Amino acid sequence: MTTFLAPPISPMRIEIDRISVSPAGPTLTRRLSDLDGLFADKRQWESDLAEDDRVVYTVMSTPVPEIPRELPQSITTIHPGNCGGEFYMTKGHQHPDPQAEIYLGLEGTGGLLLFDGEKAEYIEMAPGVLGYIPPHWAHRSINTGAEPYSFLAVYPGSAGHDYQWVLDHGMGNRVMATATGYRLVPFTVGSE
Ligand SMILES: [Fe+2]
Repeated sequence: MTTFLAPPISPMRIEIDRISVSPAGPTLTRRLSDLDGLFADKRQWESDLAEDDRVVYTVMSTPVPEIPRELPQSITTIHPGNCGGEFYMTKGHQHPDPQAEIYLGLEGTGGLLLFDGEKAEYIEMAPGVLGYIPPHWAHRSINTGAEPYSFLAVYPGSAGHDYQWVLDHGMGNRVMATATGYRLVPFTVGSE
């Protein structure tokens, strides 16, 4: 693994082949244990975890650093699966520095949950679909398909990641598996 570049950053050509980036920066691996407290079915989460602390998703960054005025990018790949019927998902976060972000679907099918603390939105994602995340909206991605779901994220380097906000507020909805696809179940912290 290479590391983030130090500024000043030179212009660069970055190849994206749907599931990887080159040149590569740091890769983040999130396992089932990292999603503690996020799935509705805590008992099922504990049971699945005891069986195998499987990888739920990875985030591969380019070398562009997360610092003000830079514009980092990453590819997130969420494995297919669910925990107690709740589709595998990212932890979700707010930006401490409230700035916008874009997600571009690359492979597979998924969803983008957005929650501003009062209103909840859901965007169906697929290859070629751009999801726009306005400032002040927490965001989480979900794999709703049977194959890995990957997307490109582009975000201001100063945005940051506040994961605690999601634990404190929820994401407005949970995305549950059904026989034919998915359904949204309203959820905010304190509502279950
Ligand atoms: Fe973000």
